[in-house]
Formats: sequence, C-alpha cells, structure tokens
Amino acid sequence: MKVLIKNIKELVQVEEEPKLAVKGKDMASIDTITDAYLLIDNEIIEDFGKMKALDFSKIKDCDQLLELDAGGKLVLPSYCDPHTHLVFAGSREIEYSDKIRGLSYEEIAKRGGGILNSAKLLNNISEEELYEQSLVRVNEIISQGTGAVEIKSGYGLTTENEIKMLRVIKRLKQNTPLKIRSTFLGAHAIPMEYKQNPDKYVDLIINEMIPLVAAEKLADYIDVFCDKGFFTVEQTDRILDAGVKNGMRPKIHANELAKSGGIQIGVKYNALSVDHIEYTEEEEIKTLLQSQTMPTILPGAAFFLNMPHAPARKMIDSGLPVAIASDYNPGSSPSGNMKLMMSFACVNYRLLPEEVINACTINAAYAMGVSRKLGSIAKGKTANVYITKEIPTYQFLPYAYGSNLIDTVLLRGKIIKV
Ligand code: NIG
Ligand code: FE
Repeated sequence: MKVLIKNIKELVQVEEEPKLAVKGKDMASIDTITDAYLLIDNEIIEDFGKMKALDFSKIKDCDQLLELDAGGKLVLPSYCDPHTHLVFAGSREIEYSDKIRGLSYEEIAKRGGGILNSAKLLNNISEEELYEQSLVRVNEIISQGTGAVEIKSGYGLTTENEIKMLRVIKRLKQNTPLKIRSTFLGAHAIPMEYKQNPDKYVDLIINEMIPLVAAEKLADYIDVFCDKGFFTVEQTDRILDAGVKNGMRPKIHANELAKSGGIQIGVKYNALSVDHIEYTEEEEIKTLLQSQTMPTILPGAAFFLNMPHAPARKMIDSGLPVAIASDYNPGSSPSGNMKLMMSFACVNYRLLPEEVINACTINAAYAMGVSRKLGSIAKGKTANVYITKEIPTYQFLPYAYGSNLIDTVLLRGKIIKV
C-alpha cells in the first residue's frame, strides 16, 4: 500500500541528510519544499520533492495507492513529546483553585496533595480502568498532532502500583499507533509513610522496584525528581547508578523548583535529557555544552504553575540544542497539546517559530531516543505526519495559538480517524 500526498503547499522540516538533533544557530532554520509531494510506502517515507519532479514510475505498479490532495495545506512531521505523565487516575482541579488562591506547588504537596493525591487515586482503580482513562488521553494527543510520546510511571509509589502503571504503558505501546517510550519514575515523591526516613524509600526503589522493572523489561529509561523537597542529589546519584546498571538510561526532572544540582548529576550519568531546568545558570550551560544530554523545557508547566521560565534563549545562543515537551500531567500541566507548547515557547521564552518546530520535532525525538526514525521528513523514516487545514505559513501554527489547524493525521503511513 502506498500513499501519495500531492500538491502540498509547503512540506516542512525536510532533511536530505538526517541529523539526530539540531543546536545553536541551526535551530533557527528549517528546510521546506513548496508545491511538493510526499510518497509513503507502507509505514515508511519513500520519497518527497517538488511536484514537477514526481516520478510516476514509483507509483505505477503498486497494487494499492491512496492519493491525498493537500492543495493549500502544509505537511509536517508529527510532534514528538519527550516528557509526559499521561497515565494517571482522575484529575486534580481542586488544587487548581488552591493554587489560584495562592498556595504554592510545594505547599500543596506538603499537605498530601499533589503527586501523593494522584497516587491515592491511582491506588483505588484497577489496571483496566487506568488503561481506559489513559487511552482517552492518548487518542486526544494523536488528534492534536503528536506521533511519539514518552510516558512515565511515578504515581504508584509502591512496587505493585509502579508495576501497574508500567504495564498500562506497555499495553498502550502494543495497542496504539503512537510510538511510545516508557520511563520508570519511582522517585517522583516520597510517600507519607517514608517521610521520616526517605532513604528507606530510596532503598526500596533500588533493591526491589528497579530489579523487577528490569526483569519484566517494563522501562526504557529511568527518571528521578531531583529537586528541593523531593530527592537530593545524593539520592539521585544512587538511584541513577542502579538504573544504569539495569540498562535504563536516565532522563531526569531537574532544577524545577530550585538550583538543585540536578543538571550536573544528569550529565554525570549521560542522561538522554534533563527536563524543566527553570533554574539554569552559566555553570549548568557549560556542563551541558560538554555533554550529549538534551536540555528539555516544559513551557506548559511553567505557564500553569506561574514559574520562572528556563533560559532557553540563552541556551540556544550559547550553542545548545533545546527540546520542548508538554509534561502532560494532572498537577502541573493538564495538557498534552504540543502546538500550544510551541506558542508558549515563542512568547514566553522568545524562541522563533523555526526554533520551536525544531524543538518539538527532531530535538524532541532525540530527547526520547527515537530521532533515527522520527522527528523529520526524511527518506526511510517512519511516516508519522500531519496535514494542516488551509493555512498561510508554518509560522501561523504557533501564532494562531487557540485554533485546531489539523486536517489529517497519518501514523505509520495510515490515516487515523481523529
Ligand atoms: O513534571 N515535577 C514533577 N512532576 C510533575 C508534576 C506531577 C504532578 O504534580 O502530578 C512535573 O511537573
Ligand atoms: Fe514531569
């Protein structure tokens, strides 16, 4: 089966020679082809180019050909979303009101709200119910243009419930067309019963949870919320050491609430990404410049919690790459809408439309370890793309921040009804 998307007004983010990520000044440019076609063979991008260069012999003999006319429309690679917690139970809009009244994220957490509240809700529902609730969110983000997503555990906080979450993520991997990567985040919060002795909980993570997660091959990556009031650098060090020994590369929550040392400890363990990073200074930028670690900003969480913004402009100007993720979760970012994240990143971080598109596609793919196969329009990559409605330019996407501009979603070369 082949799919030919023809008469594309502009095919965006094309790569003749695919890169794994783009950094610094290169982030401000994007290659596009106007009046273009895109040819998909089963799940794979076979060819693309100018309409007038379309080689009809490539489609002549195929038994099944679907032609889509994209006149007036743009085609882009699907978003990759390299940091979410979209497997969760229920919702926490009660805390939303508390926040508006003036309580901080940390104050809410201290009262047993926040992550512990989600852990309670998750404990009370079955694996089946958790799967059903999460599937609704997966379908929601597919309809918003996401083609790959990283999903974390971390609302279990007991061995049994962490495994329950990771099994749900595994089922989502098997049953949906999204590319999914899973991350074990047992170190998301200290459960109430360990508040007096947090190191005992760290021991449980290291001695019981990590070996079980590894034995069942339930996680690709390991994460720790390394921040003030959560896990210390020393605890993070121990957990990452155990995770790496069990085959899980780190991707960590760092410097969201304070300058926690999280970036340095992430880089020490060759983390794939360090995420949030609101509190980032010269020293951290220098550390990142000497690493393979992707700095990942979460503009939705900074917006929702009204926090300082990570110095993404400065990072790019210093030569770093930057990726964007939604952080989709019930407490700090109840949205997985990557187009909206682009708009937040443009306005609040002063990034250009080209930079945010790179940050949400190829760099985001890198931050979840899939950029060989996803994140751009390149021959041989997986055909996860979307066709926009009729719009004037690609800059219009982050600009028209409240509009749904998606017309058709294709994942693995197949049209997904959204
Ligand atoms: O990425 N920072 C830690 N974890 C999530 C929030 C989770 C929650 O509040 O439920 C985050 O913001
Ligand atoms: Fe997060």
